[in-house]
Parts: sequence; C-alpha cells; structure tokens
Amino acid sequence: MKKFFIQTFGCQMNVYDGQRIAAMLTARGMQETHDAADADVIILNTCAVRAKATDKVFSALGRIRRAKKPDALMGIVGCVAREAGADAFRRIPELNFVLGPQSYHKLPEILNNPDTKLLNIDLGGLEKFDEMPQMDASPAVAYIPIQEGCNHCCTYCIVPYTRGRELSRAPADIMADVRHAAQTGAIEICFLGQNVNGYKYIDQDGATHRLSELIAQAAKISAVKRIRFTSSYPTEMTDDLIDMFRTEPKLLPFLNMPIQSGSADVLTRMNRPYSLELYIDIVDKLKAARPDIQISSDFIVGFPGETDADFEKTMDIAQRVKYINSYSFKYSPRPHTAAALMPDQIADNIKAARLAALDARLNELQREFNTSCVGRTMSCLCEGADKTGQNLVYRTPYMQQCIVERTNADAPQLAEIKITAANKASLRGEFAD
Ligand code: 5AD
Ligand code: SF4
Repeated sequence: MKKFFIQTFGCQMNVYDGQRIAAMLTARGMQETHDAADADVIILNTCAVRAKATDKVFSALGRIRRAKKPDALMGIVGCVAREAGADAFRRIPELNFVLGPQSYHKLPEILNNPDTKLLNIDLGGLEKFDEMPQMDASPAVAYIPIQEGCNHCCTYCIVPYTRGRELSRAPADIMADVRHAAQTGAIEICFLGQNVNGYKYIDQDGATHRLSELIAQAAKISAVKRIRFTSSYPTEMTDDLIDMFRTEPKLLPFLNMPIQSGSADVLTRMNRPYSLELYIDIVDKLKAARPDIQISSDFIVGFPGETDADFEKTMDIAQRVKYINSYSFKYSPRPHTAAALMPDQIADNIKAARLAALDARLNELQREFNTSCVGRTMSCLCEGADKTGQNLVYRTPYMQQCIVERTNADAPQLAEIKITAANKASLRGEFAD
C-alpha cells in the first residue's frame, strides 16, 4: 500500500485543507504515515503570512529531500506555493508539484503522471470544495470554511494575494457540510473564513444570506452543542450578528476580533480604516448582548513608522479591552504587499523589545482572566487525554485548556467542569456534581 506524509503549517484554514487532502489520498487507497522517509508522496501544506513561516517550509524541504525515498513524490501546497510559484522548483529541484491554496484538488494529476512537474497556483475560486471527498469521521470540533480570501487589503498582509478575493460559499453547501460533520461526530462547529463575518451570499432570487443565518441554522441541529467563528473584521460586526450573542445560547461567549494596533495613525497606514472609538463601541455592544463575552486579538508590533507613542497606545488598548487568548507578532515585510515598500522600517531589536512588552501584558491579562474563572462551573469539550494518559484535556467556552483527572473509563465529551485552579497557560478542574 502506498503511503503519504502531510505536514501542515499555519492557520485553521490550512488544517482544514490538510484534512481534505488526507481524505482524498485515503479514498485513493493510500495510507498516512508520520515518517517522511517512509512515504511515497510527501506534501508540505504551507503558510506564508510571515517570512519565518516561509523559511520554515524551505528548511523542512531541505531536510526531507535528503531523507526521502529516491522515487517519492515531494511537493508543496498552500500559501508558500502561491508566494514562491515556479521559483520553488529552482530553490528545491527535487520538488514534483507546487499547488496553491485553491488548486490542491489538482493533486491527482501528478499522482497519475509522476514523471512530470506540476505547477498550478491559479485562484480557482471555490471549485476545490466540490471536488474533494468528505472526511469519513469528524473530530469533535469541525472547522467548516464558509468564505475564502479577503477584500480588505491590509497593507502588511499577503493573504489577498495567496488566497485571492473574498468568495462566500452557498449556504446549502455549507449546511450540508455542517450536517455531515454532526452526523459523523462533531459537537462544536467553527465557521472559518479570512474575513468570516463578512460572509455574504446572494442567491439566484436576489436574497442575501449572512453568517447570523448560518449560526441559527446550525443551532437547530441537536447534535451541535457549540458554535463559534473565526476570524472577524471589526467593522463587519453587523447588528444581526451581535444579536446572535444575545439570542443563541449555543454560540460561545468568545470572539476573535483582531485590532492589530491601538494607534489611529498606524491603523491608517495598515489600511484598516476604523476608528478606535468605533472598535470600542462594537466591543460595548457585544458586552451588552452577552455580558460574559471575552474578546481575543492579533497584534502586529513594529509596523513601518510605529513610534514609541504609537506602541504605547497598543499597550493601552490591550489593557482597556482586557483581551484573552491573543497573539502578537513582529511585523514581517512580505512580497506582494504595500507595507514592505514603506519608508521607516523598524529595526529588529526595537520590534523584539515591543513584542516582549506586549506579550508580558497579554500574559498578565490571561492570568487575570484565568484566575477569575476559579470557582466557576463551565460546560467544556473533551479534546482527549494528556501525555500521561492520567488526565483529560477539556476546552472551556473561552478556549482555555482545562486539565481534569480521569475518574472513569468513559468520560463525557461535553461535561460540566468546576474550575479549581489557574495559571498563566491553563486551568485545572474537576467534574461538577
Ligand atoms: N507581519 C506580521 N504579522 C502579520 N500578520 C499578517 N501579516 C503579517 C505580517 N506581514 C498577522 C496578523 C494577522 C495574523 C493572522 O497574522 O496579526 O491577524
Ligand atoms: Fe489579511 Fe485579515 Fe487584513 Fe484580510 S483582514 S487583508 S486576511 S489581515
């Protein structure tokens, strides 16, 4: 039996793409291996959002090309494929295929013609969703893409180039995926999109379908117990969607809504044209709809021209919103983006110092929130056992990890857990009642 190896880097959309590729190869009678040296087909499913992510892919390729079986097929799919294009073949001559994020369903072409080289980085739209087979079994959390690409064109971001313009899938196709996931084991549905709350589908009768409608429909499926969506653009947070937090108990009280910077000047240069007042206003509306809601954000430090005063504003907004589960990154100039050409690029030592300061603040906020959870009982979803096998790892509604001692052989997948202790990174809990 032929074996395939797939390594996924980057975001949830890539994780989903990786699962679909694995399902396709399994359907062709292949078996997955976790050892590249043992594989007949080697696929790196890649992320290009920061230079470091791209570098990681090329160093992995450098290692694998020496270890692989001589006649194994090796290739890259995803955002680095689109970023590097034909240049990838020049850098790594052993590569057999380079397929972009919207053309990985073309993989059978190289399997059927292994003596050729296959380059396809076209933006093929949503074709891939129709052409790939469904997964047989769903994990407890099913990620369902509803939209791909982005029209916002933030000046630092390579995504509009790698994943193209925003396209929303038809609601009937999405709901077929949700039902399939629920029937094959999913308990939580996470709707995915680069600009997920910008989801907008106009059907042949001219009616507009929005994310709020998808949430309401998914909530009607009894096997679906938890719903969330990621990642949201602040000004696309429309009132119908905010209202879902008031009316739909299955929608988790947790929202990823990146602000990126707390400085109005930096936001303007990032081409994120919202005011900080508007952002805070949206947070306040969300809190009015769902008083226990928590918000997470991504931040970029050291964007071209960012002054100490700009950076202090980012520190202030983090404190003001009291973000949890947030990520911060040093600005990384990317090809095909406007910010890479801007003057006043910031030195790496300044970026590093700002990142350390922001991370310390975000960790402190996380610790404060984790501590405030002690004594509360929350409905949590089991992710499996920890390394020792003695404990179970649960996810709270706020995506915190909660470690619970395994008390009997079959623990419930969804359980009421009383939080007993907290630290910076995780919680401990016990089964309530
Ligand atoms: N440099 C650093 N971080 C970036 N991100 C996107 N592009 C860049 C870049 N060029 C971050 C943003 C985004 C997250 C997925 O990655 O914060 O929200
Ligand atoms: Fe990139 Fe997100 Fe901005 Fe779209 S909204 S351009 S995906 S950072």
